[in-house]
Amino acid sequence: MKTYILSIESSCDDTSAAILQDNKILANIIANQDVHKRYGGVVPELASRAHQQNIIPVVDAALKTAGIDKKQLNAVAFTRGPGLLGSLLVGTSFAKAFALGLHIPLIEVDHLQAHILAHFIRDRKENKAVPSLPFLCLTVSGGHTQITLVKDYLDMEIIGKTIDDAAGEAFDKAAKIMGLPYPGGPVIDKLAKEGNPAKFTFPKPKIKGLGFSFSGLKTSFLYFLRDNLKTNPDFIEQNKADLAASIQKTIVDILIEKMITAVEQTGVKDVGIAGGVSANSEVRKRLTEEGEKRGWKVFIPDFQFTTDNAAMIGIVGYFKYLKGDFADQSVVPYARSGGGKRKNTG
Ligand code: KG4
Ligand code: ZN
Repeated sequence: MKTYILSIESSCDDTSAAILQDNKILANIIANQDVHKRYGGVVPELASRAHQQNIIPVVDAALKTAGIDKKQLNAVAFTRGPGLLGSLLVGTSFAKAFALGLHIPLIEVDHLQAHILAHFIRDRKENKAVPSLPFLCLTVSGGHTQITLVKDYLDMEIIGKTIDDAAGEAFDKAAKIMGLPYPGGPVIDKLAKEGNPAKFTFPKPKIKGLGFSFSGLKTSFLYFLRDNLKTNPDFIEQNKADLAASIQKTIVDILIEKMITAVEQTGVKDVGIAGGVSANSEVRKRLTEEGEKRGWKVFIPDFQFTTDNAAMIGIVGYFKYLKGDFADQSVVPYARSGGGKRKNTG
């Protein structure tokens, strides 16, 4: 029998609803919130208000796109955390009410597990390859940078993570220093295409093992620009593309070097990336190149799965549904990883 799961994602500034039929995606609707652009970052209060406005239309659109009646649904999955509490509350409350009203199970999902398991979503038409287990995934977003060893769909171990900033933050902060708009990652990516990545070099952190650090890079980038602006007030404007390409290369070098170490340490050669920064063209290219050189099987997510989306919540929901791992109506969101007293999050 086929299983239909409605999934909801509302952890930050995207309101999303998806319908999965088993592990296949039938609909994945995302409503972005433009309201934050003028503030240079996500404003939590505005985000939760926008989620309240978006959630019903988004769920409605997902059901219509999938051609499914809500009575056909077998379960409702939702993002429990980590994320902005006010935002998470909107999705959590909606999912609870929906499950209660339809007398179907409620499934709580960890956002980071979802980014990783997005690699196992199958498309309705094409039969694209999915990773074998164990699988090694580099999750790089605005809030997280970690390497996870996926032993089984619901059995993951974080084997390395950042001790300070996330890779996405490094992109965003570098962009801010250069006076570029938020979020800076995509802007740097675009500018870098016209620039010379070897023009400037920045020191890389010396963190042992599989740990990451990006705060030192941000500081050295800031001081480098400050010093150059003293002698040339147009330094940034004149070197925009080269600065973008050089800082991007440094960030990507740091990420790739740790993935090489992770493969060496674990012997796992099915390798992927996830999270917002996995949309970066340089990280996608370099991981693919390293994979070809080193005999890895590399999995690069479709762009629709690099940003926050509900389909990734749905795939975790499906694996939990198969195990009968359901939440009850007393479940509350958590802002930080581990807040739900989970073992396997970052
Ligand atoms: O996963 P995500 O959508 O949200 C969370 O942080 O959970 O990630 C957002 C981050 C931002 O820091 C953004 O600048 C970065 O992903 N990002 C990129 C690119 N697209 C998004 N960074 C570099 N290159 C990109 N093309
Ligand atoms: Zn995310």
